Amino acid sequence: MSTTAKPTVLIDHEELASRIAAVAQEIRQDFPTGQLHFVCVLKGAFLFLADLIRAIPGHVSIDFMACSSYGTGTSSSGEVRLTKDLDASIEGRDVIVVEDIVDTGLTLHYLQEILLARGPRSVRTACLLSKPSRRKIDVKVDYIGFTIEDKFVVGYGLDYAEQYRNLPYIGVLE
Ligand code: IMP
Ligand code: MG
Repeated sequence: MSTTAKPTVLIDHEELASRIAAVAQEIRQDFPTGQLHFVCVLKGAFLFLADLIRAIPGHVSIDFMACSSYGTGTSSSGEVRLTKDLDASIEGRDVIVVEDIVDTGLTLHYLQEILLARGPRSVRTACLLSKPSRRKIDVKVDYIGFTIEDKFVVGYGLDYAEQYRNLPYIGVLE
């Protein structure tokens, strides 16, 4: 794979926008009142978070965390490390973890364990993309934007070697 190839469009901008609006509605229906605290997993989920919260009415707060599992390659090392922690406590809060993609599930499983240990009122997870065929661990994802095949995707926040995050669509690198 190179960092100069032009990706093939898998999910275009319109499809992303309408599906994200539907996911936002689903989340608000599950929590009709009250503050929702969104925890965005950097860097890949930043655009998903931005569009998701703008489609959610009512009170919303955000925080960010980051972990590394991939380096710059395309296959998981299986090891997850927290590289940036949250700014604020999540105790007693209704937390929605926002992830770009769940692949092996190792990253999300690790994050969910860390967050649950901090005494939130609830923890749910929203992932823009899911590759179920790659799962190594059974992890709970409450809201999924799109289920995709085992292909390496970029764009709309997702990278290959830090490139392509600015694409307004999800594309496949071949
Ligand atoms: P997991 O721990 O294997 O589930 O990997 C999750 C993380 O790997 C995601 O948050 C992404 O940062 C990265 N990742 C997995 N698959 C892809 C992909 O197809 N494109 C870009 N990043 C990916
Ligand atoms: Mg990534």
